[in-house]
Amino acid sequence: MLIAAISSLNATSQGFGFGGFGGRRMNMDSLNIIAAADYSDMLSKLGLKESQIREGRQPNSQDISKQPNYNELIANPYPYYPDALTTFDGRKVKSAKMWNKIRRPELVREFEDEMYGRIPDNVPSVSWTVTREEKKLMGQTQVIVRYLTGTVDNSSCPSITVEIQANVVWPDNGTKNFPVIMEFSFMAGDPTTPSRGGEKSWQQQVVERGWAACQLVPSSIQGDNGYSLTNGIIGLCNKGEYRKPTDWGSLRAWGWGASRMIDYFETEPLFDATKVAIEGVSRYGKASIVAMAFDERIASGFIASSGKGGVAGWRRDCGESIGNITSSGEYHWMCGNFIKYGADPLTEDDLRIDQHELIALCAPRPCFISGGSYDADKWQDIMGMFISTAKASPVYELLGKKGIGTDVLPPMDYGLTEGELAWRQHHGGHEAGPNWPYFLDFFDKYVVSKK
Ligand code: GCU
Repeated sequence: MLIAAISSLNATSQGFGFGGFGGRRMNMDSLNIIAAADYSDMLSKLGLKESQIREGRQPNSQDISKQPNYNELIANPYPYYPDALTTFDGRKVKSAKMWNKIRRPELVREFEDEMYGRIPDNVPSVSWTVTREEKKLMGQTQVIVRYLTGTVDNSSCPSITVEIQANVVWPDNGTKNFPVIMEFSFMAGDPTTPSRGGEKSWQQQVVERGWAACQLVPSSIQGDNGYSLTNGIIGLCNKGEYRKPTDWGSLRAWGWGASRMIDYFETEPLFDATKVAIEGVSRYGKASIVAMAFDERIASGFIASSGKGGVAGWRRDCGESIGNITSSGEYHWMCGNFIKYGADPLTEDDLRIDQHELIALCAPRPCFISGGSYDADKWQDIMGMFISTAKASPVYELLGKKGIGTDVLPPMDYGLTEGELAWRQHHGGHEAGPNWPYFLDFFDKYVVSKK
C-alpha cells in the first residue's frame, strides 16, 4: 500500500509545490509517508482494502491495457446516465419550483456526501486585509492593483495558520461597482507584468472592458496534495486530525475560498458582488465548477479543460479514469467517500449522479464550458465534457433559459454561445487562452449588459 501510494504521489505532485505546510520544511519522502498514512486511514474508515482499488490509466505504460482509451467506439461502457430531471425516487421534475425545492437540494446533498464533501459547520471566519495597493499602467489603461490577505481565525488550533492570498486589479477611472472576473491562479503576483509572448493577458482584456480581475490562490487555502489534508482550512477545522469520509476535499475547500472572496466584494463598494464570474483551468476548472455549483452568488463561470472531476462524465471511458482520481495522488481533491466508486465491487455506474448534474446545479446562471484541441485535451475527454454540457441543457430550458440546443459536437472553434449555457472548443492547448474573448463577450451579454 505504502509503496503504491508513494509512487503515484511522486508522479502527480511534481511542480505543484508544498502548499499547506506554511513554513515547515520537510523532504518529499516524509511528505509522501504522511500522505500514504492519510490515504490508508481513509481506506480503513471506508472498510476497503488496497486490493479492491482499481488502478488508474497510465499514459506511459508499455502495457496497452493500462493506457487510456481514446477510441470513441468503446468510450461509453455505461451508456445510461442519471436523468437530471428525475428525482432519486423516480418522479419527473416538471417545474422550476420542483427543481428548486426538491431536485436541486437532493443533488447538492448527493454531490456533497459522495463526491466533493461537506463544508463543516465550524469553519472559522476570514478577515481580509489590504497588504499593498499600487497605481500602475496596464497596456494603455491606468489601473489600481490591490493585494489582499484573508486571515482565517485559528484560535481553535493555533498551530495551523491559513492566510489566503489574492489580488484584484481595476481601471483607475474614478467609478465603482466593477463586475469582477475571478480566477483560481497558481500565484497572485503583479497582474500588470506583460506576458512573455507579448499577447494581452486575460487581466488586460478584462480591465480594457472596464471590469476588475481577481486572482485567488487555491494552495493558500488548502494544499494540493494528500499530505496537506491535516493542514490548511481542512486541517484547521479538524484540529489536525484525519478527515471523515464525508469531509470536504481540496476542490470544495478552494470553492469555499472563492465564496469568502465574494464576501469581501460584498463589503467593498468598488465591486459589484452580484456580477462575479469564476474561471479556472484543469484542476482549477474542476474547482471553478464546484465553486459555482454550490455558491449561487457566483453569477457566471468559465470552466476550462476541467476533465474528470470537473465536467466530464465518470461513465465515460476516455482519457483519465476514476482510478487516477481515487489514487493517493489525487484523492485529496474529493471527499473520502468517493473512493468507494473506484473500488470493487462498486463502479462509476453505481454513482446516483454524474457531472452533467453538477453543471445543472449552476442553472440558470450563465456558464461557459471550454476545452482545447483534441490533442492537447484528450486526457480531459473533450467528448465527455461536451456530452455533459448537452445533458445539462434541459435543466437550463426548464428554468426558462437556453441550453446549447444540440447534442452533436460542433467542429473546433465553432462556439455554441447563443444561450446561458455555452460550449466552445478552441484550437490550441490545455488552457483557457483562446476562449477568453468569447467568454468575455458572453459575460457581457448575459451578466453585465443584461437588462
Ligand atoms: C493531471 C490530472 C488532471 C488535471 C491536471 C491539471 O493531469 O490527471 O485531472 O486536470 O493534472 O490540473 O493540470
